Amino acid sequence: MDVEDIRADLTEVLITEEEIHAKLAELARRVEADYAETTPLLVGVLKGAVMVMADFARELQIHIDMDWMAVSSYGAGTESSGVVRILKDLDTDIAGRDVLIVEDIIDSGLTLSWLLQNLQSRGAKSVKILALLRKPESIKVEVDVEYVGFDIPPAFVVGYGLDFAERYRNLRAVGVLAPHVYE
Ligand code: IMP
Repeated sequence: MDVEDIRADLTEVLITEEEIHAKLAELARRVEADYAETTPLLVGVLKGAVMVMADFARELQIHIDMDWMAVSSYGAGTESSGVVRILKDLDTDIAGRDVLIVEDIIDSGLTLSWLLQNLQSRGAKSVKILALLRKPESIKVEVDVEYVGFDIPPAFVVGYGLDFAERYRNLRAVGVLAPHVYE
């Protein structure tokens, strides 16, 4: 879906499809260099990271393995509580593996902080994080993110995997959702 198709639902286009692809290529070159001696396991966090994973993995010129997890935050409201439930676990035994978590966005950091510890406790050799977007002003817990695409303001964004009520994931760009859509 192109921006023009839903322009009225967005107040602003933050990052275009071209900018996303250029950034993923840049990050891929770093990851290729950092994982030259190993075959990393890329772990995508469903569902938001599907687009990042699809484009980033195909950009990489090294062998990788791929697996997926689905998690959800407990608690009332829309804010992440930091208590996480695994809805779908990995199929892979990650003991001794170099794991690279692939995420769409870091908001409070609570989900990733939990996931990082969870995967480390399974005996992975290393666990690093790649996130396309980060909202530095929303961070509640410091998470060491090795590869960051873009730092963005603390607005609610949709597109490129990110949804509002399951919509807009198939938008090619990332945009700020207009208040009239959710008010
Ligand atoms: P955290 O635990 O607060 O970092 O939660 C991160 C998760 O919240 C992401 O994986 C997204 O699924 C969701 N999320 C955070 N910010 C946004 C946003 O602006 N748009 C859509 N989803 C978001």
